[in-house]
Amino acid sequence: MLSVKNLCRSFREGAREHRVLEHAEAEFAAGEVVAVIGRSGSGKSTLLNLISGIDRPDSGTVSVDGLDVTALTEPHLTLFRRRHIGFVYQFFNLVPTLDVEENVRLVLELNGVRGAEARERSSAMLQEVGLGDRLHSLVDTLSGGEQQRVAIARALVHRPPLLLADEPTGNLDEETARQVLPVLLSLTRQRGATLIIVTHDTALARTADRTLELRDGRLQEALP
Ligand SMILES: Nc1ncnc2c1ncn2[C@@H]1O[C@H](COP(=O)(O)OP(=O)(O)OP(=O)(O)O)[C@@H](O)[C@H]1O
Ligand SMILES: [Mg+2]
Repeated sequence: MLSVKNLCRSFREGAREHRVLEHAEAEFAAGEVVAVIGRSGSGKSTLLNLISGIDRPDSGTVSVDGLDVTALTEPHLTLFRRRHIGFVYQFFNLVPTLDVEENVRLVLELNGVRGAEARERSSAMLQEVGLGDRLHSLVDTLSGGEQQRVAIARALVHRPPLLLADEPTGNLDEETARQVLPVLLSLTRQRGATLIIVTHDTALARTADRTLELRDGRLQEALP
């Protein structure tokens, strides 16, 4: 479903070249849940940014269902990202001036779904994450765990085949993380989407189908 080949990315630091990814390679099957671990600064977020086309590699390719993402021009990339990818971030990244339902509906509207259908689909998605009674609350009046469930609903509502989660529980306390994570995993599995989840949480990594470790710029299978 997703194939990462020979991916290289470095950043310039003054006169020095900081090589973050060096020939990183991995294959992800449809419906697979893969945890990505690695120490801080090892390039985990960089990898997700390259997969979603937010960042461009120095060399190498990312292909999603046979489409070479690295070859797309900016407008095509934007469309590809909107339709094919759902994101969950550590700091939720919700729109504070919109209510819960509007935050989720926005993604549908960007994908051309409008009116009653958009409202019904976003409300139904919010029911599934247990927020059916908070549809018209402003997002900053919600707890961290609730905000992350809004973010999960937003990531899934347009049924993307690929979900990217960058430390989705990194900003939640342990107990809240234990409540939110199964929501993300079970909804992803129900829909048969592929999930790549960056985490420092070893318990979380164990619930994935596979764990990859980023080390010295390369991806390697980590032992469970
Ligand atoms: N836009 C950028 N410009 C310069 N350096 C960058 C840029 N983005 C990332 N880096 C560098 O690349 C390295 C990897 O960063 P990245 O954010 O991918 O790490 P990470 O594994 O996600 O770390 P963390 O676990 O702390 O989130 C870091 O040393 C970082 O400083
Ligand atoms: Mg990171």
